[in-house]
Amino acid sequence: MKDPESFIEEKVEEIKKVEGKAVVGCSGGVDSTVSAVIASEALDDDLLAVYVDTGYMRKNETENIDSILEEMGVNHVIIDASEEFYEAMEGIIDPEKKRKIIGEKFIEVFEREAEKFGADYLVQGTIAPDWIESGDEKRDTIKSHHNVGGLPEKMGLDLIEPLQDLYKNEVREVARELGLSTAEKQPFPGPGLAIRVIGEATPEKTEIVREACHIVETEIDKAVEEGKMERPWQYFAVLLPVKTVGVQGDKRAYGHTVAVRAVASLDAMTASFSKIPPDVMARISSKITNEMKDRVNRVVYDITDKPPGTIEWE
Ligand code: XMP
Repeated sequence: MKDPESFIEEKVEEIKKVEGKAVVGCSGGVDSTVSAVIASEALDDDLLAVYVDTGYMRKNETENIDSILEEMGVNHVIIDASEEFYEAMEGIIDPEKKRKIIGEKFIEVFEREAEKFGADYLVQGTIAPDWIESGDEKRDTIKSHHNVGGLPEKMGLDLIEPLQDLYKNEVREVARELGLSTAEKQPFPGPGLAIRVIGEATPEKTEIVREACHIVETEIDKAVEEGKMERPWQYFAVLLPVKTVGVQGDKRAYGHTVAVRAVASLDAMTASFSKIPPDVMARISSKITNEMKDRVNRVVYDITDKPPGTIEWE
């Protein structure tokens, strides 16, 4: 990439040649948001960005992405499909089954919207590391699709991949050039909070982990701004399937356990657990147990590197 400004101009011009309508799935992450904004500059209302709220999103994520897309003038819809997702996840414990169900449900909801809009093209935020290892030739931005990375071929949509030659740091540069606040966001897995509730990801348990993740993010962001620590690669909470004994006032209580996970990494292939200052740990712990007094009475810290652990717990 020469520079972000001419990259954006070049891609907008390329996509302007497209005749027809396009859809883009917006997850709130940096790749899909940048793709949506570039495609929107080229196609205007012939582009529809679809954000599916699976019920497993972070706190305020849906409102944030809605206002970012609004501000950037991207034609978009927010689909609250959380009830559908929660129902499909009833009784599901196996992590791989959770991933499969969420992936399939997402396609079902997304396809429904793409059909309603009458889309001919699918814009995807594929970046270079997503395809380079497969030994693919250098590709055009717009091509007939063969494998739409999880979205089924029967959709019959051609692909537009404006970021396919960029690496993550370059996508972040483009995001900054576009003035997007998502530029510095930490990675968030596709299945979302469903894989941060160990065991069945019920709405009630998801609510606990959503609040706990929010507290971990807020407190660590604050500590980073105060110069107390480096920003970790990822930092979040996990709800364990373990209840333990505690005290609440003068009574014996029996509540949930939350694990805090924070890691330093360059590419998520390997990682080392972050050495969080003790006062930051203390603040995270007391906030979680105070704000969810009736539900959580124990907070633990994960001190495992990858390998042997993984970053997520599922
Ligand atoms: P692990 O847990 O395997 O994660 O060390 C490595 C990176 O990948 C993310 N991750 C996922 N991302 N779908 C995704 O889009 C998934 O199913 C998934 N599982 C893990 C994880 O957050 C970390 O950044």
